[in-house]
Amino acid sequence: MSWIVEETGFDPGRIATNGNKYMLGNGAIGYRGTLEEFEREQLTACTLAGLYDKVGDLWREPVNAPNGLSTRYYSGDEPLGLLSSAYESHGQSLNMRNATFCRETVFASLGGSRVEVRSQRFVSMKRLDLLLMKMELRVSEDGEFTVLTGIDGEVWDINGPHLEDSETVSAGGIVAVSAVTHELRRAVVVAETVRWEKAPQSEQLERKGSSIYRRATFLGKAGETYSFTKYVSVVTGDDRQTALAQAVSRTLGAAESTYEDHLCEHEAEWENKWEESDVTIEGDEAAQFALRYSLYQLHIIAPTHSEKLSIPARGLSGQVYKGAVFWDTEMFMLPFFLYSQPDVARNLVMYRVHTLEGARRKAQEYGYRGAFYAWESQETGDDACTLFNVTDVFTNRPMRTYFRDKQIHISADAAYGIWQYYEYTGDESVLLDGGAEAILECARFFYSYSYYKKEKMRYELLDVTGPDEYHERVGNNAFTNAMAKRTIGIALATLELLEAKYPEAYRELVDKLNDIDDLAALSHMHDELYVPSPDPRTGIIEQFDGYLKLEDVDLPTLKSRVLDKNEYLGGSSGLATTTQILKQADVVLMLHLLKDDYSLEAKRANWEYYEPRTEHGSSLSSCIYALVASDIGAPDWAYRYFMKTATIDLTGESKQYVGTLYIGGTHPAANGGAWMAAVLGFAGVRLHRGALVVKPALPQGWSSISLPMRVKDQRLFVTVTPTEVIVRAAAANRSSLPIRVGEEEREAEPGSELTFRYGSSERGDGLAG
Ligand code: BGC
Repeated sequence: MSWIVEETGFDPGRIATNGNKYMLGNGAIGYRGTLEEFEREQLTACTLAGLYDKVGDLWREPVNAPNGLSTRYYSGDEPLGLLSSAYESHGQSLNMRNATFCRETVFASLGGSRVEVRSQRFVSMKRLDLLLMKMELRVSEDGEFTVLTGIDGEVWDINGPHLEDSETVSAGGIVAVSAVTHELRRAVVVAETVRWEKAPQSEQLERKGSSIYRRATFLGKAGETYSFTKYVSVVTGDDRQTALAQAVSRTLGAAESTYEDHLCEHEAEWENKWEESDVTIEGDEAAQFALRYSLYQLHIIAPTHSEKLSIPARGLSGQVYKGAVFWDTEMFMLPFFLYSQPDVARNLVMYRVHTLEGARRKAQEYGYRGAFYAWESQETGDDACTLFNVTDVFTNRPMRTYFRDKQIHISADAAYGIWQYYEYTGDESVLLDGGAEAILECARFFYSYSYYKKEKMRYELLDVTGPDEYHERVGNNAFTNAMAKRTIGIALATLELLEAKYPEAYRELVDKLNDIDDLAALSHMHDELYVPSPDPRTGIIEQFDGYLKLEDVDLPTLKSRVLDKNEYLGGSSGLATTTQILKQADVVLMLHLLKDDYSLEAKRANWEYYEPRTEHGSSLSSCIYALVASDIGAPDWAYRYFMKTATIDLTGESKQYVGTLYIGGTHPAANGGAWMAAVLGFAGVRLHRGALVVKPALPQGWSSISLPMRVKDQRLFVTVTPTEVIVRAAAANRSSLPIRVGEEEREAEPGSELTFRYGSSERGDGLAG
C-alpha cells in the first residue's frame, strides 16, 4: 500500500499539480503526469535534461520534446476524453516501486456504449531514451471505435517556441517528428512505433502542423479487449539526419521486445535503486509514505549517466526556474545520494568541475578572481539568472534583484559539496579530476571579494545576500561568512592533501593559480575572517550587520500589511526588507551545517529566535528547521517540519502561479530535505571525524527507522529504535568502520552486527516559538 500514489475521480483544477505528482523520469527525460489525451494547455511535457534554448530576449530554459505518447479515442466519431466527454469512473496511480503510471477510465459515450480505457506507461530506467505505453480498450456494445495515436509536436513552452523547422516523417511503420532548437540548432527527434495486438480495420496517417498521428479504426466487439503498445525514442544531437536515423533504429530495436520484457529490465533497475536507498519507518504509515515519495522524486531526476548534468531546482518537471541548477543540489539533495548512490553524487559534484569556466567568467565579469558560480546554472556554467527577476505587481515593472550578483555563498556551497563527496566516499579521484581546482578557485574568489579592515584586524564580506533573499546587499551575513571560512579551510586541507600525496598535481595547480599569491594569503584569511558569533548575553547570532535593529514585527502583522497576494516581500521596497522577517532558514542553516562549532544553548536560542520570524517563503526552509529541532531535542517540532517538507509534492500545496507565470513543478530540495530530516535528524546518523556517529531523536510513535547506507565504500545497514541502534556491516566490506553512539565506540567489522543501547533522547519540546 505504501508504494502506490493514487486517486479516483477527475478534478480539472488539479491538472497542473497532478502533472508534478504523477511524474515519471529517468534522469535524462522527465515526463509529466498528465493523461495521454492531454495537450499543451494541460501542461504536458517531456523535458530533456541538459538541453537549453533561448528565444529572443526571453529566459533561457530547457527544451520540451514532442509528446510521443499522445493518444486520443473516439467512439464512432465522438471524441472521448476526461476534459470533453462524460465518464463513469476514472482512477490513476503511480507505483513508486517500479515507476509506472496507470490510468483507468470508463467513458460513457453518447451512443450508449461504455468504453473502458486502461493505460500503463514508464520511462525506461534501463534505456534512457525510451518511453513505453501499453493501452487496452474495451467497449460494452459492438461498434466502431478509433484510436488516434502518434506524436504531438505542439509542445508546451514557457518562453518558446524552442523547436523550429519541424518535419514529420513516416517510414516502415515508424512515425517521427524532427526539429532543431532555435538558439543552438540542436536536433531533437522523437520516433514512435505501435504494435497492435489485433490489427485495426484500417490505419491512416494524419499530419497536422508539427504533429503526426495514425488513425486506427476497429470494429469493436462488446467485451473484447483491444490492446497495443507504443514504443517511443527521444534522441538529441548535433546533426539532424544522424539523430533521426538513431531514433528510428532505437525505436525499431525496442519494438523487437515486448512491453513486458522492457518493463522487466526497467523494474530490475528500480529494484536496485530501492535496495540501495529505501528508508523504512515502522509505526508511522503517513511518514513512511511521504518519505518514500520524496525519494521517488529524487530518483527520477538523478543523472546516473552523465557528470555534465546536475539537478535543476524543479527537477525535470518542466521549464520553471529556467531548468537551472541552484545551491539546492549540494545543500539539500547531495546527502541522500552520498549515502545511497555515491556514483550519482560524484556526477553531481563533477558538474561543478565541468562548469568551472563559466564560474571563472562570472568572477571576471564582476572584477574578481577565482570562481563565482552561477546562481542559476545551466550547461555552460554561465549565469542564467537575470538582473530583473521579479515583476512588481503594483507597477508591473521589472524589479532589480541581486540574486545573481550578491548571493556569493553559491561558491561556498559548490566547494562544500565537492569536499563532502570526498569526505564521505574517500574517493580522491574527484579532487584530481578537477575538484581540487574548483575548490581553490572558490577560495580565491572569497579572498578577492573580501575586505581586510585594518582597524578591526579582520576580513569582512560586505554587500552580499545570504540565503534569506528578503534582505539583499547586507554586510557580514553570518551564514555566508561562516561558509566562506569553511571553504577556505577546505582549500587549505586540499592543498595539504595534494602536497603530501600528489606532489606533481600540487605543483601544477599552485603554478596555475598562484599568480598573485592568493594561495599564500588563504591561511591568514581563514584565521582572521569575521564570523558573527552568539551574543554572550542572549546567545543570538545576528543574521547580518544591523539585522537586530530592524523592525521586530511578527509574521501575522507583516502578512496583514500585504496588499496583493503575489507581492514580493523582498527586492528594493518589499515589506520584509525593513523588518526581521526572513524568507528561509539562514542562521539556522549554518547551525545545521556547522553543528560542531556551536553549543546546544546557542542552537536552541537561535532556533527559538528565528523560527517565529521565518516566513518559509522557500521550500528549502522547513527541512532545516526540522533538522536543528532534532539536534536540540525537540522532536515534535522536528516532526511537524519534516511532514511539511515530505508532503510538498503530494499535496501540491505550493504556489503554482504568480500572475500568469507558472512557477509550479516538483521540489527536489524539499524532497532531499525530507531524507535529511529523517536520516540526519531523526535517526541522527552522520560521519564525524572518521566515525559513524548515531544520535537518535525519533518522533513519538516511531518504533524504528532503518536504512542501508554506504560510507567510505563500506556497506552498512542501520536500524534505530527508541532504545537501540543496530548496525550491520556487509560481509564483503574491506575494512571496519568505527561506530559511535553516545560515549560508546565500537568497530563494525565486515559481517558483524553491533547493538548499542542508548538512553531515549530528551522528548517533548520545551521550546517557545
Ligand atoms: C530560494 C533559493 C532557492 C531557489 C530555488 C528561491 O525561492 O530562496 O534559496 O535556491 O528558490 O529553489
